[in-house]
Amino acid sequence: MLRLNSQLKATNTPADLITLIENITAACKDIASNLHRGALSDMLGSAGAENIQGETQKKLDVISNDILKEYLIDSGLVRALASEEEDSIVPAQSNAHYLVTFDPLDGSSNIDINSMVGTIFSILEAPQTAEVSEQDFLQPGRNQVAAGYVLYGPSVMLVLTTGDGVDMYTLDQSIGEFILTNGQVSIEKDTKEFAINMSNQRFWADPMQRYIGDLLAGSDGPRAKNFNMRWVAAMVADVHRILCRGGLFSYPWDSREPNKPGKLRLMYEANPMGLLVEQAGGAIYTDKEPVLDIQPEHIHQRVSVILGAANEVAECLKYHQN
Ligand code: AHG
Ligand code: MN
Ligand code: MN
Repeated sequence: MLRLNSQLKATNTPADLITLIENITAACKDIASNLHRGALSDMLGSAGAENIQGETQKKLDVISNDILKEYLIDSGLVRALASEEEDSIVPAQSNAHYLVTFDPLDGSSNIDINSMVGTIFSILEAPQTAEVSEQDFLQPGRNQVAAGYVLYGPSVMLVLTTGDGVDMYTLDQSIGEFILTNGQVSIEKDTKEFAINMSNQRFWADPMQRYIGDLLAGSDGPRAKNFNMRWVAAMVADVHRILCRGGLFSYPWDSREPNKPGKLRLMYEANPMGLLVEQAGGAIYTDKEPVLDIQPEHIHQRVSVILGAANEVAECLKYHQN
């Protein structure tokens, strides 16, 4: 039985990074216990406010954000943090070495139907500038020193990379510890399963229409095999399925908001998931470039995403090149 702390020590993770990760997971255990109370506490439904993306915040978006913020600031290890639910960066401990970005509750539209949600986080090194600013966060995803998510499902799981493969841990509620349950996971290169919100089909660009059209044509079409489809509407749960049993996931550009490249956020969703997916042998691209190579322009930037099984991502990109 390997606890998170022992596994991180065994893989020579720096002591301060271990402490930071443990602060994040402590916050997530706190979020999990709030989620478990569900309708027993007055925490379901809307908070009656909007975030910077113009999305209605759920009470639990705000509560989860506040919990993470408190643990991160208290850790003393974070120079500043950036969150999907904060308009601007939040400075914390001057001279600290790390920056943290997070989506406190991903898939929060699932809360009111008691379905899966998660917390996604990314850790960067803080440049040693005199005063911390948003500029310090604008580093390509490849610079992440660690990334992961906690999935609040039938069991609570932590999926983590510190740049040396991907490990999965399950929360043992009886002792309050994350235990390593699946080490060094890898994504099969080929797949017969895809995840996309099909209701947006008519808004997609032509290459995506043709690619998904060919998957739907199954064994009678050019791909000559039948594909299955899944959509949890929480990226964290869709990516978790792909890490467990393979598949392709996309949230592509669509014409509803033509000036935005996609729905997902680069710094809070695509980059951390991207590091996990690449570390597990999968691929993550926009419709033209590797997500992890993007030079961010602002912290709330959005991006189109195609990720998962390496050969299937390459297949999808071919449609975009022709
Ligand atoms: P969030 O709840 O943090 O705003 O993120 C939701 C995102 C992502 O997790 C998911 O893949 C996608 O939105 C679902 O979008 P649809 O509502 O279009 O299905
Ligand atoms: Mn999200
Ligand atoms: Mn969110």
